[in-house]
Amino acid sequence: MLQTFDIATRTPYYIYDTELFARTIQTAKAEAACLPTAQIHFAVKSNSNIQLLYIAANEGLGADCVSGAEIEHCIACGIPAEKIVFAGVGKSDEEINIALDTGIGCFNVESVPELDVINELAAAKGKVAPISFRINPNVDAHTHANITTGLEENKFGIAMSDMVAVINHAKQLNNVHYLGLHFHIGSQILDMTCFRLLSQRINELQDQLEIAGINDTTSINVGGGLGIDYTNPELNPIPNFRDYFRVFADNLCLRPSQALHFELGRALSAQCGRLITKCLYVKTTATKQFAIVDAGMSDLLRPALYDAHHKIINLTGRKEQRPLHTYDVVGPICESSDVFDKNITLHEVRRGDMLAILSAGAYGFVMASQYNLRTLPQEVIT
Ligand code: LLP
Repeated sequence: MLQTFDIATRTPYYIYDTELFARTIQTAKAEAACLPTAQIHFAVKSNSNIQLLYIAANEGLGADCVSGAEIEHCIACGIPAEKIVFAGVGKSDEEINIALDTGIGCFNVESVPELDVINELAAAKGKVAPISFRINPNVDAHTHANITTGLEENKFGIAMSDMVAVINHAKQLNNVHYLGLHFHIGSQILDMTCFRLLSQRINELQDQLEIAGINDTTSINVGGGLGIDYTNPELNPIPNFRDYFRVFADNLCLRPSQALHFELGRALSAQCGRLITKCLYVKTTATKQFAIVDAGMSDLLRPALYDAHHKIINLTGRKEQRPLHTYDVVGPICESSDVFDKNITLHEVRRGDMLAILSAGAYGFVMASQYNLRTLPQEVIT
């Protein structure tokens, strides 16, 4: 439990519960056992903290990377290159070369021009690049518009209707090896129907490919996207992995020995991190009470960017069992969107109190910036 904090640590800072992270991974692995060929890759974009990556590596997870730097970082943290998959619509030549040199497990290719460049760069090194195609399944994930990825209007992937031609094109190339299909429909998905629809789309596509004589699909990657409970994180620290993996077990028709890959980010890392921030001032106006804290949108961008709500606790006030009051919790940055939440109930806040912003282990520190020339928050491990 993260009830204590080191008052000597400069605020704001992220604190990660490594025990919860390990337990979350172990639960995911146990629930994935209903799918005999399942392999989980940690989406490193959600949290690239070294200590967490060591744990992921130790638990036998692979990594889902979206840059050359992430690939190098994961390998340095002990994740074997062959367990790394590499996605992204705009892989640079330098990044493709890093992936070729390190010998990653799979490039998730998002366009034909990218395929041709990977083939050329692999040829120059006398290598054969393992590839899957990212397919846009046109499944609506009913999540925030900025984190929906699997619709035709999104920039990601190749249309299902183009796949036969694209795979046949890949087979003409000497320096790429076709492994299979990759999908990702969006993030923070709590409605399992979305994953059932995805499974059905994959089944349809596999049937179409086989009718067209493509019978060597050995890998299916369904991406990530499982959501977490931002409203009651303390009650539900571990997401519903049972229902999630069950949906695929019940709906996806895998061919014999086909590997099934998952790229989970938020579901593994969100609940193990919180952002600790100090109250600088309590300001009362005619209509409002503002708790002005020393963390801002530069430290945790999600509320400003996606209208996300993270549960906030006044650690000091709760410990002292102070009465409840209503506050807007805001940061110090010169932007009106620098607001963590409005009209929320907190134990009475006073200057110097420590507040915790929960469920901040995913897309928290990794999206921090130095806007306003602020210092990046620290990361602390328990
Ligand atoms: N695989 C691919 C290809 C992805 O694009 C993503 C996330 C994942 C896996 C991992 O998704 P997850 O399991 O974490 O949902 N910054 C946003 C989320 C962006 C997600 C981008 N892609 C947020 O803070 O909500």
